[in-house]
Amino acid sequence: MSMRIGVIKEFEAENRVSIVPSSVKKLSKIGYEVYVETEAGISSNHSDQEYEEFGAIVTDRQQVSQSEIISSINFPAEELLREGQILICNADPFRHPSRVRSCNDKKITLISMDMIPRRLSRAQSMDVNSSQDNLAGYKSVLLGASLVSKGIPMMTTSAGTVRPAKVVVMGSGVAGLQAIATAKRLGAVVFASDVRITAAEQIESVGGRFIVVEGMEDFEDESGYAKPLTPDFITKVNETVCNVAADADLVITTARIFGRPAPVTIPADAVKKFKTGCVIVDMNADVGGNCELTVRDETITTDNGVVIVGKTNLPGTIPTTASMLFSNNITSFLSSLMTEEGFDLSESDDILVGAPADSDFHVQGMGGVLLCRDGSVHENQAKLSEVI
Ligand SMILES: NC(=O)c1ccc[n+]([C@@H]2O[C@H](COP(=O)([O-])OP(=O)(O)OC[C@H]3O[C@@H](n4cnc5c(N)ncnc54)[C@H](O)[C@@H]3O)[C@@H](O)[C@H]2O)c1
Repeated sequence: MSMRIGVIKEFEAENRVSIVPSSVKKLSKIGYEVYVETEAGISSNHSDQEYEEFGAIVTDRQQVSQSEIISSINFPAEELLREGQILICNADPFRHPSRVRSCNDKKITLISMDMIPRRLSRAQSMDVNSSQDNLAGYKSVLLGASLVSKGIPMMTTSAGTVRPAKVVVMGSGVAGLQAIATAKRLGAVVFASDVRITAAEQIESVGGRFIVVEGMEDFEDESGYAKPLTPDFITKVNETVCNVAADADLVITTARIFGRPAPVTIPADAVKKFKTGCVIVDMNADVGGNCELTVRDETITTDNGVVIVGKTNLPGTIPTTASMLFSNNITSFLSSLMTEEGFDLSESDDILVGAPADSDFHVQGMGGVLLCRDGSVHENQAKLSEVI
């Protein structure tokens, strides 16, 4: 039996779309029928006509919502969802446990792409966190550079020599490494921090200088992710890194701990020591902010002239590329579910259900993408059950 996928138009502030026309062709070939809501791709430059040319049925929201699978970037409006449906989106379950609860109550199977078990090489092509974080890291630098009152690269001119801008990147995962590489390409001198010692080599490999914190312990867990810092170390790392940032022109913050509020890497007091005109782009404004003074979705200027940008959804500001990559991720995932026997949400698939209950991934909540089905939270998502 062919499965219908309904691609809904996201809410107004979201310019991305979860499935782009070129993916429709691939999905149709392997047995899916793709229904796309009218104008779903308009903000990412994909017309209804283009979708139709690639084999989609473009129709109204009512008809799209009848599909067996609903595909979306953000968690959709509840009235769109029906009992027995499969919802594939970024549910961000630890910050929004009510979404899991509500899907559970409605007997909706919830698949959260942001829970992809990243250690599996088979899952890399499905990793929406990496694809979107990478773009966010890139865009954070462009945004920040456009607000800095200096030029970024070194320039030797007849009117005098311009020294390169100093950029500090806090947190060097996927987003941070792309921010370092982008700032470097613009010609900045780039310093970067992380609490995982393995990040030092990666920082250097993209042209950054690792900020060494004296007596640094390694805060990498066995799964490769950062674990929460001890209170002593928080003070020490923040002092060291903020001292390096005190004369920076641009600071990009990307530090995160999976499923938790953003760690503070720039306390309010530290901002007072930053130089006038410094721009901080806080990539974690949506989860509490790395800078204590960040205001979500606002750009503020402090009394000492530091500009703090709290823009959320940076990938949404490059919707064509971000949609294409998200769509490739979701297509790869949906392709893995279509076997010769048909659509299969088999629980033996480790991308769906993740590692066994006692593994570190499980403790981190990185069980798998399948969060709930048939009215119960998946047993491998015990950490999530605690939150719910
Ligand atoms: N397919 C894969 O195997 C795969 C895919 C993506 C990422 N990864 C790895 O996962 C790890 C985490 O990457 P991510 O981008 O998801 O991370 P993330 O978005 O969870 O966090 C961003 C970065 O912030 C760092 N951080 C946390 N607290 C900090 C603090 N107080 N100060 C400074 N830095 C702090 C983290 O160590 C991390 O590097 C990396 O090792 C990355 O290479 C693996």
